[in-house]
Amino acid sequence: MAKLLIHGGRKLSGELQITAAKNAYLPILAACVLCEEKIVLHNYPHYCDTESMCKILTSLGANIIQEGSDLEIDPSALFSWGVESELACQVRSSIFMLGALLGRFKKARVAYPGGCEIGARPIDIHLAGFRKLGVKVEEKHGFIQCDASNMHSATILLDFPSVGATESLMMASVLTSGTTRILNAAKEPEIVDLENFLVKMGAKVRGAGTGEVVIEGVKKLKGCEYDPIKDRIIAGTYLIATLMCGGDVTLKGVKGEHLGALIDKLGQTACNIECKNDKIRVKAEGRMAALGKIETSVYPGLPTDLQAQILALQTISDGSSMICENVFESRFKHVPELIKMGADIHVKDRVAFVRGVKKLYGASVTGMELRGTASLVLAGLVAEGYTTVSGVRHIDRGYSAIESELSSLGADIRRVKD
Ligand code: EPZ
Repeated sequence: MAKLLIHGGRKLSGELQITAAKNAYLPILAACVLCEEKIVLHNYPHYCDTESMCKILTSLGANIIQEGSDLEIDPSALFSWGVESELACQVRSSIFMLGALLGRFKKARVAYPGGCEIGARPIDIHLAGFRKLGVKVEEKHGFIQCDASNMHSATILLDFPSVGATESLMMASVLTSGTTRILNAAKEPEIVDLENFLVKMGAKVRGAGTGEVVIEGVKKLKGCEYDPIKDRIIAGTYLIATLMCGGDVTLKGVKGEHLGALIDKLGQTACNIECKNDKIRVKAEGRMAALGKIETSVYPGLPTDLQAQILALQTISDGSSMICENVFESRFKHVPELIKMGADIHVKDRVAFVRGVKKLYGASVTGMELRGTASLVLAGLVAEGYTTVSGVRHIDRGYSAIESELSSLGADIRRVKD
């Protein structure tokens, strides 16, 4: 198993092109099964999660060819509507296949999804939405079995603005006659990107990003080319890394507005962050002041996917902060590892109380999930001495090569064999 070996203390500088958004690419890959013609997706990112989704599509009969940075998907010969457990359990996004397969075949049998262990991650909101659409849903032997022969349009009110449920229901509705409305829908930029992709294929979808998504069913979709948005969470990770290490970094390809809550929050401590067109430039020198009360929330609030990275920043900021994780019930697995590096953190329920310390010390630490492992890397970049981060497989799910991206900005980090 590989590890990341980091020698802390380097400043970061330079420019980095941010890769495509994992959480945009995953639903878009699922949505390809709705179409019976060839689709080309540009700037394919080699994350483990997107590779897992490609394996699921191939298992259903899709033909996928990688041409340079393009991914050519031919879903015309799809013959199956079932996703087996060994594939489904690799990623949370396998649950998106339900909506897409129901749209295409009016039936689906998908094993329970996997995903980062950051909470129970139920799918009740997805299934309640499908039932509202007239889908017969059965859960047994670890599978969700759906019969959508009588699927119809409906108005669905989500109990919670779930990202995945919004996306699953959008996909299930695009080929269902009539008008389907999804109320209390999630508003993330990745949902707007899914809408744009569906519309490019000829679907009639509007309202993504507003909280109410309206889908007018159409008969058929057509092939298209599409270039999904870049990853705002990766950009946020490297923005925070620069604030921790000091330096001058420009991140290319991400809109500042997609990180609005983070930039506003950081702006309270007189950070030098400049957003222009699709570039975010951050200049940092010396220690930052603590951010005080920090609340994660659904978009446009502070993303839960940046909570661990912000927490790492707070461990070496001047003063105390309180980080409330309001989205997932168990997303502080990185805390004990940061404490091993000298951080002063106390967790009670969904709140982490952090007192900034003068410095962190290199240690051997283990990541348990994607963004928590990224926060350990950030801590290693500023810690005195050497840090080894195990659990790199978690980080590879959502960063294509974190060590080469950080090295290109001047960090002393490399991947070593165990
Ligand atoms: C998506 O997960 C992302 N994953 C997550 O990113 C992200 O953290 C999350 O949205 C929130 O922004 C992908 O897009 C592949 P939710 P998802 O449904 O769809 C509860 C990363 O690091 N809930 O919005 O699973 C759920 O338990 C990953 O890139 C139900 O109760 O998130 C959670 O508390 C981690 N019932 C809350 O809603 C349901 O049926 C938000 O979940 C569905 C969700």
